[in-house]
Amino acid sequence: MPRKPFIAGNWKMNTTGRSAVELAATLARSIGSLDAVDLAVCPPFVYLPAVKAALAGSRIALGAQDVFHEDDGAFTGEVSTEMLKDVGCRYVIIGHSERRHVLGETDEMINRKIIKAMAAGLDMIFCVGELLEERKSGLTMDVVSRQVKIGLEGVAASDAGRLTIAYEPVWAIGTGVNATPEQAQEVHAMIRQLLAGRFTATVADRTRIQYGGSVKPSNAAELLRQEDVDGALVGGASLKAADFEAIARAAL
Ligand code: PGA
Repeated sequence: MPRKPFIAGNWKMNTTGRSAVELAATLARSIGSLDAVDLAVCPPFVYLPAVKAALAGSRIALGAQDVFHEDDGAFTGEVSTEMLKDVGCRYVIIGHSERRHVLGETDEMINRKIIKAMAAGLDMIFCVGELLEERKSGLTMDVVSRQVKIGLEGVAASDAGRLTIAYEPVWAIGTGVNATPEQAQEVHAMIRQLLAGRFTATVADRTRIQYGGSVKPSNAAELLRQEDVDGALVGGASLKAADFEAIARAAL
């Protein structure tokens, strides 16, 4: 497989100032020098600078969990791409299912964020995935294709190197029930085909597609062994240093 694995931790609305720094410092010591796998952690906005400092000297990159699609101005509560770069973020997660389904983000809003992040030179983890009802109704491929197509509207092939896609079936997030390796592989292969059609075969071949949804030390290796699974976006298990370390090592 030509793609280097990429494991990212999405801490969501968890940790305190103290526990975030402790977690980052522990990871920096345990897996901070691995170079056969790319690693990132995405703490809450307010802890980004402290976590950045705790990661200093390690190869673990910093990511944010969201960003807004305007540069500045009257957008109370929002955070811009320049702010993220200013505090040392390399990555930003865009279109996470909790943003879509709890906060009401649409494919169009997500597309605007992707365009803005591309223009700012941030790397992004663009999340897609179907609801349980959609899977049960046989709509998985339709839903994921729609999310990918609208999300990437207006993105140039020359910017596609900034893109990681995370396939996260909504029914697998935080439930303990992961997609089977076969289910993940099937959707990942379809996403790669979409990328080949939307960009080029080379872009499709190079773009990393992470799986997310109840990834843990016990299932990581098997999921990561699939041909088109190039890494993982890890929620719950990324809050435990030993678990995140085990998942990172499973990617080696
Ligand atoms: P989970 O979350 O690993 O806790 O299922 C994954 C995610 O939401 O990114």
